[in-house]
Amino acid sequence: MPGDVSRAIDSRRSVRHFDDEPVSRDIVEDLIRLACTAPAPHHSRPWRFVHVTSDERREALADAMSDAWRADLDAVDTPVREVDRLLRRSRTQIEEAPALLLACLALDEAKDWQDDGREQSERDMFVQSLGAALQNILLAAGDFGLVGYLKGAPLFCTDAIRTALDLPSGWEPTFLVLLGYPQPGFEPDSRPAIEITDFLIDR
Ligand SMILES: Cc1cc2nc3c(=O)[nH]c(=O)nc-3n(C[C@H](O)[C@H](O)[C@H](O)COP(=O)(O)O)c2cc1C
Repeated sequence: MPGDVSRAIDSRRSVRHFDDEPVSRDIVEDLIRLACTAPAPHHSRPWRFVHVTSDERREALADAMSDAWRADLDAVDTPVREVDRLLRRSRTQIEEAPALLLACLALDEAKDWQDDGREQSERDMFVQSLGAALQNILLAAGDFGLVGYLKGAPLFCTDAIRTALDLPSGWEPTFLVLLGYPQPGFEPDSRPAIEITDFLIDR
């Protein structure tokens, strides 16, 4: 590996279990500053973040996500026990993550193309940019000794989340970012090497 950045990228893992130690507000702010250096279309800054700190809001968020997911799982006849297991796990993750951020997309700087195809492409550009901002957070978190992962569930219940967290207008909920310090003895899993020709071709 050529240097520190490559090593940080290579060693990042989704880690879903944390030590109880809290994550300071200063670190959260540093991570958001770094998130906001991501490349974005039209020199925009289409990312917004909610730091969910109060127990009441966490509970409201967990309730909103639980109700929406239960309805989705019931609609495809998921066995009751499995529904309960999934919802219990998700609730624990949301309630116990030492730092919980909701990443939102703000499209107010997107161009209005008056044409569905172009509007979708325009939106896609902003969504890609959010991915870059989130990767910044996950990578920078490692520099602060933190680990974490993303949860995509908010994309499936945006209205319920908007209400639960009383989001400003124009903030579209996308992902949860869950962060914390690793548990003692934590070792990242090894990652299987890729076959380069599966991912790269020459023309
Ligand atoms: C768009 C997106 C959504 C994800 N949603 C979840 C999720 O809901 N729950 C979860 O545990 N992990 C989630 N992940 C993390 C992936 O499971 C993880 O990145 C993948 O297994 C590869 O592992 P790695 O990040 O350690 O390389 C998500 C990742 C992305 C990029």
